[in-house]
Amino acid sequence: TAFLAVWVGGDRLFLRRVDALVKATNRLANGDLSARTQLHYGQGELSYLARAFDQMAESLDQQVTELKEAKDKVQQHLQQLRALRNIDMAITASLDIRVTLNVILDQVVTQLGVDAASVLRFNSHMQLIEYTAGRGFRGNSIMHSRLHLGEGVAGLAALEQRTISVPNLLDSDFIRHDLVVDEDFIAYYAVPLIAKGQVKGVLEIFHRTPLDPDLDWLEFLETLAGQTAIAIDNAGLFSNLQRSNLDLSLAYDSTLEGWSRALDLRDKETEGHSQRVTEMTVHLAQRMDILEEELAQIKRGALLHDIGKMGIPDAILLKPGPLDDEEWEIMRQHPDYAYKLLSPITFLRPALDIPYCHHEKWDGSGYPRGLKGKEIPLAARIFAVVDVWDALSSDRPYRDSWPAEKVLTHIQKLSGSHFDPQVIEVFLKIDDGWKPAHHHKSDEIQS
Ligand code: C2E
Ligand code: SIN
Ligand code: SIN
Ligand code: FE
Ligand code: FE
Repeated sequence: TAFLAVWVGGDRLFLRRVDALVKATNRLANGDLSARTQLHYGQGELSYLARAFDQMAESLDQQVTELKEAKDKVQQHLQQLRALRNIDMAITASLDIRVTLNVILDQVVTQLGVDAASVLRFNSHMQLIEYTAGRGFRGNSIMHSRLHLGEGVAGLAALEQRTISVPNLLDSDFIRHDLVVDEDFIAYYAVPLIAKGQVKGVLEIFHRTPLDPDLDWLEFLETLAGQTAIAIDNAGLFSNLQRSNLDLSLAYDSTLEGWSRALDLRDKETEGHSQRVTEMTVHLAQRMDILEEELAQIKRGALLHDIGKMGIPDAILLKPGPLDDEEWEIMRQHPDYAYKLLSPITFLRPALDIPYCHHEKWDGSGYPRGLKGKEIPLAARIFAVVDVWDALSSDRPYRDSWPAEKVLTHIQKLSGSHFDPQVIEVFLKIDDGWKPAHHHKSDEIQS
């Protein structure tokens, strides 16, 4: 026992050390990587053991921390990839640059963890960078951003095509002072948006506390700026395309007017017949609540309504008297000729209703297909009234013009048989002012 007492007494220290080691081991086993023996290492096996334990715990702790950091990074990169994918989808799906930029700025603000971001777009005509989209701003001070190249930090970033950061806006002479005061921004980045070597604008980052970004953050900022530049470049391509489409239809339309004048000439029509019936048809169509976008097609169709007469020989077209049965057979084919001529032209296909259907009659007795009532396209029902009005008011190779009263009575009488009664109703309500006077060739020669 004495020996035991001595052993126990002398080695109370030993037991405490064992106890500490056991406790630390348990903590470690339970996942507490900060567990250490807290022993002052001395000599002997136990100290040896304690030191070894602490070193092991230390290195385990470090490895796990590194692993966690690596895992966080992977997760962050995954999120960044997802963000880029969202941006890609927005660029492909949306043709409205503002929508795309809003998607991008959402990602910029969340992925970079900043308070606000804006895009200033370069306007090459004005040589200015101007506010286009923003996220995270409290007021609308940012919307007034309009800087010359080289002006302010953003202007300088655009001019010199380099990223510029301002760690503390309060210490700088930031040109848009309102932004600093009203929005309490501290940190700022201006990243030039460059696509195909050209400046498209500037991406701006604002934060209300100091920013201390790592390399990863900066790289992702540049990547997002690259995506933004691509989005703006794409949108530019699209609106240029839209513009050249517009140019093209303007060019087409003046070609059509040329064609229709040539047609009138051959038809020995009174000067400006086609222009005149076109204007009247558009006028009447507007009162019949035709959609604005259909008016352009109606206009083209009216201008070309008798293009099918190109297929009618002079001997028939210009015959000074009534047509015989065989001649009528040929004359009645002019709407079919129009269909054959125009339908292969994509641009004119939607304008076909009038050239193809202007001789159909409400009661089904017209040609070429004998369509009835609303089977006849509305545009053609409208045009038919105007065409007959103008034809009867004009001299023809086969007869002189009719007096206005006679024309009007005649047209009224044909409501419900030749013409759509609703169109006639609107036609009769319109002031006589817009209707043309008589068109005698002799009048025109005199005038
Ligand atoms: P257009 O001369 O431009 O006539 C267009 C439409 O106006 C005619 O379609 C008809 O609905 C009406 N219209 C024109 N003139 C008269 C008329 O004197 N009396 C009456 N009641 N309606 C008239 P439609 O009948 O299908 O004729 C189509 C085209 O055939 C005419 O275009 C014209 O180029 C030709 N055409 C018609 N009748 C004669 C004719 O007697 N002699 C000759 N040479 N050509 C004719
Ligand atoms: C149209 O295509 O012109 C309209 C058809 C209709 O209302 O009958
Ligand atoms: C016109 O007078 O030019 C139109 C008559 C028709 O289409 O036959
Ligand atoms: Fe015709
Ligand atoms: Fe005509």
